[in-house]
Amino acid sequence: MTQSPVPASKMPSVPPRILLGPGPSNVDPRVLRAMMQPMIGYLDPDYIEIMNETVDMLKQVFQTSEGSAFPLSGTGSAGMEAGLSSLLEPGDTVVMCIYGFFCERMVDMAERAGANVVPLRADWGRAFPEEMLEAELKKHSNVKLVTAIQAETSTGVRQPLQGLSRLAQEHDTLFMVDAVTALGGEEMAFDAWNIDYAYAATQKCMACPPGLSPVAISPRALESIKSRKTKPVSWYLDLWLNANYWGFDRVYHHTGPVSMVLALREGLRLILQEGLENRYARHHRNAAALCAGLEALGLRMVVPAEHRLDQITLAWIPDGVDGDAVRNSLLRGHGIEIGRGLGEFAGKVWRVGLMGESSKPEYVLALLSAMEKILPEHGYEVASGVAVAAASESLARAGG
Ligand SMILES: Cc1ncc(COP(=O)(O)O)c(C=O)c1O
Repeated sequence: MTQSPVPASKMPSVPPRILLGPGPSNVDPRVLRAMMQPMIGYLDPDYIEIMNETVDMLKQVFQTSEGSAFPLSGTGSAGMEAGLSSLLEPGDTVVMCIYGFFCERMVDMAERAGANVVPLRADWGRAFPEEMLEAELKKHSNVKLVTAIQAETSTGVRQPLQGLSRLAQEHDTLFMVDAVTALGGEEMAFDAWNIDYAYAATQKCMACPPGLSPVAISPRALESIKSRKTKPVSWYLDLWLNANYWGFDRVYHHTGPVSMVLALREGLRLILQEGLENRYARHHRNAAALCAGLEALGLRMVVPAEHRLDQITLAWIPDGVDGDAVRNSLLRGHGIEIGRGLGEFAGKVWRVGLMGESSKPEYVLALLSAMEKILPEHGYEVASGVAVAAASESLARAGG
């Protein structure tokens, strides 16, 4: 076969973008530089030290001293699948709180793990009602696991977790939480909220590229995995084997994605240098300014203010406006990416992410100014300057 490498001149370069979609978010330059360090063996003593530092900082971000924390190789879905396939054995009952696209993905995975799945479906765009879980748990005597998502990226809802966790405890079941869009941008108190397993992703609020799924596991969840009667169907995502590589005896499991771990270590340093509380406050300030601006454009928010996430904001696309055409104009004309709707919200909403490095006042103002220009071109009249003014006022009020 002839060999014909694509000439460098023909290879498209990656254009700079302002990433205000559901992820990946922009990556801090310090993280990109960290990834350019020389390769090192995954059992080199210096790399082990890097792993130790990563675990130590990850535990601070998850707010756990009792649990284990480490990154799985893979994106957020790896953390989801590792949890469901390691915590559930065929025939185990799992009660799943369902209020969005990613909750449905969890159902699919739990079914593949052979579990007896009890999906509790509630309205999209609203917080999941605790009473629903309470009523269901009363009907069963042998529930192994309850699942929920802290930040449903498909709906923009912040799900309060303490009530669900209390119910899981009262019924002596394990409690698993998806913190993919939350970790690093929203409080995650793993120990205090009695969570048994939580997983996240590096590409949202953690300032890193996609590629790792940081997880935290309680001692009782690890014990439960250790005492399984059957092996988890996935060897790669077996949480016990991964926990051994990362935490206990450092036995080789798979070749560690060294450069991504270097990225995560730097991302975690950035998070802790900023301070968790400051970081949550920054996400809140910028999301409030974004909402003020979008509402000044006359757009309606999908989620009521009390359950709205700071990481991702959903607005209904106005009647008669082609949502994808607007997104395309933003990308092609202004280098700004925003997200489209998923599942039952497909074609109906825009999703604007302000996560990690992408949560910046200047990005909020750039987006709103571009929307003021673009929307009239797509048949939706707006008064020039109103959105930027409303967002600026909101930022000034919040001292941002
Ligand atoms: C809440 C939630 N869970 C899980 C996932 C899946 O993560 P990934 O796409 O990194 O596999 C996503 C992705 O956006 C998400 O938003």
